Amino acid sequence: MDKSSLEAKRILLIIGGGIAAYKCLELIRRLRERGAGVRAIMTGAAREFVTPLSVSSLTGEKVFTDLFDLTDEAEMGHIELSRDADLLVVAPATADLMARMAGGLANDLATTALLATDKPVLIAPAMNVRMWEHAATQRNITTLKRDGISFVGPNEGDMACGEFGPGRMAEPMEIVAAVEAHFGEAAFAAGQPLKGLKALVTSGPTHEPIDPVRYIANRSSGKQGHAIAAALAALGAETVLVAGPSTTPDPAGVSVHHVETANEMLAACEAALPADIAICAAAVADWRVEASADQKMKKNGEDGLHLKLKQNPDILATLSSLKGKKRPRLVVGFAAETEKVIAHATDKLKRKGCDWIVANDVSPATGIMGGDDNLVHIISAQGAEDWPRASKREVAGRLAHRIADHFKKGKSAT
Ligand code: C5P
Repeated sequence: MDKSSLEAKRILLIIGGGIAAYKCLELIRRLRERGAGVRAIMTGAAREFVTPLSVSSLTGEKVFTDLFDLTDEAEMGHIELSRDADLLVVAPATADLMARMAGGLANDLATTALLATDKPVLIAPAMNVRMWEHAATQRNITTLKRDGISFVGPNEGDMACGEFGPGRMAEPMEIVAAVEAHFGEAAFAAGQPLKGLKALVTSGPTHEPIDPVRYIANRSSGKQGHAIAAALAALGAETVLVAGPSTTPDPAGVSVHHVETANEMLAACEAALPADIAICAAAVADWRVEASADQKMKKNGEDGLHLKLKQNPDILATLSSLKGKKRPRLVVGFAAETEKVIAHATDKLKRKGCDWIVANDVSPATGIMGGDDNLVHIISAQGAEDWPRASKREVAGRLAHRIADHFKKGKSAT
């Protein structure tokens, strides 16, 4: 059991009047042991089956009934009662209660709270099989579902009335599972829009060896790429960061592969495929020494040294040109420009074959180079978006959300 699956969740349990009401005592215990706070409203009929004292002993809270007086209203009105919850659970939802809900009635505290709420509602129907199958109930079920109400059960089985068929209330643990699933899906919708997607990010410089102790490098800090990997992971993406040598710490929740050279970076990227998203934020060295020395090079009395350089593979262009399922669905490159930022970046978008370019303005006037801020424009086939100057972390967060929006739109378009 996950002891904290419902930690700090507030549930308003509306107990209807049916024999299955006794199962609510067990339900309250199971919800509370997972960390949920439970308040209960009991209908008049429910109080014929279980006592408010039993219910309040288990919720640890006052039980709300139609018999509330003005003091109750002053303490907590019915509107506040339903709005204060994260989820309303109706169990058992009797045929009569469902009919009143479907009709929008508010003739007792339970239905008033249900009509006044703007929170999600989950119901666990329980009734005699013939009542369940009756055209009126079936009509009400359709209406309630159309109104966005979720159902758990009913199950088929022996009924307290001696008949057999659908109408038994779902077991307490089934209701708990439905409550957990509700909050799981809500968390997904609220905070983890990239869940189920895989992201690959390159970051930092590369070091291209001259000999075992010397190398060609650049000043990239890796701050922006590392922040992007962290931001994608925070939105739920399974994230692989291929990082060149940098002092920026590995981000949490990300699988990090440390590499030195451009060739190693490319190999690590290819090994991480397939991925849905690829972000090439690394400052990959354009050149490497064609034949680096195995031993430390010695001064040989000559005035100079000639190193023959060979062009490195372009990782961004390579990933962009992959075919079929191997190509990430969204490939994003970076372009640091000092002038004509948008024009140069648009040109780079075409040359590299990627989907977006994050163009950063590193002209001396911005004072951006090597700092914690970034001033970027997002270039795509749709044009350029100008973002305000912000910290690299903020840019990363905004980019991750922008990517989530892109995939959401893609999904709704299919
Ligand atoms: O060609 P340029 O270096 O200006 O392009 C920058 C973009 O290309 C960045 O996204 C960078 O990560 C990527 N790049 C790459 N492999 C290279 C050179 C650049 O992935 N060899």
